[in-house]
Amino acid sequence: QQQQQSSRAYSRNSPKNEQKTLLKLLENIGSRREVEQYLRIFSEVDQQRFAVIKVGGGVLENELNDLVDSLTFLYRVGLYPIVVHGAGPQLNKKFKEAGIPPGYSVDGVRVTSADMLRIARNVFSDQNLKLVEALEELGTRARPIHGGVFIADYLDKEKYGYVGTITDVRKNAVEASIKMGALPILTCLAETPSGQLLNVNADTAASELAKALKPLKTIYLNEEGQLTNSETKRKIDMINLDEEYDWYMAQPWVKFGTHLKIKESKELLDQLPETSSVAITSANQLQKELFTDSGAGTLIRRGYRLFK
Ligand code: ARG
Repeated sequence: QQQQQSSRAYSRNSPKNEQKTLLKLLENIGSRREVEQYLRIFSEVDQQRFAVIKVGGGVLENELNDLVDSLTFLYRVGLYPIVVHGAGPQLNKKFKEAGIPPGYSVDGVRVTSADMLRIARNVFSDQNLKLVEALEELGTRARPIHGGVFIADYLDKEKYGYVGTITDVRKNAVEASIKMGALPILTCLAETPSGQLLNVNADTAASELAKALKPLKTIYLNEEGQLTNSETKRKIDMINLDEEYDWYMAQPWVKFGTHLKIKESKELLDQLPETSSVAITSANQLQKELFTDSGAGTLIRRGYRLFK
């Protein structure tokens, strides 16, 4: 109880001056009205229900500073995003060095051998610690969470090896971290009930976590920072699933990653409250996406007007 109160006081009521500086900064992005409105909305829900943020391995590799700045910003205004990261490019590099072919199967599932799992475990924990350390350096408290959250079964041991399908999400470690005033930073590795590590796709892990926590925002950060209409080459600003889902699914240009993202977002949002939405954006556009009406990436929602 004591601990909870002190960490709340530390993070929520940060010194007046700091709060002011932050608001000033934000005003450069949006208007004071927008910024205050969204800040209020994001602060009104339970702390663990603000946002789950999936960070792609490419962002950790090429945009770590932007990422750490954006997360620090949220932390300083008293918000606790929950971070789940991948490590795709880092894994490919290590596999190559070890002479292991990257091993994507026909179904797009990364077949994982015992050797690959061993390497993956190290790569994930290195990437995780890299992010945690970079955050701590800026005074943003963060906790590495390397296990105990995603419980899984083998997807198909014969076919894919050490690949898991998530069967349960244990929220305790995440909630404990937030209570102590630290951002939870999770790798996407899962384990069976008896403790065998299994490899899981980071996007899938993030959306399973979101199903368990029901956050206002589920955010996918990647280097592209948006979904793009590959015909017009223009950014897709917003998708209202209730009205537009069938239309998007029927478009010949909606393929591969975009198709999957829209489909998975629908599956996720169908299980979340109507006020929840998915955002696809980049590390350095995150504040703009969150704190302005017009945003800076792609917003996917059920079709109800958000917050109005
Ligand atoms: N800031 C608001 C939110 O986070 C609106 C974002 C709008 N984004 C967009 N890409 N149209 O929900």
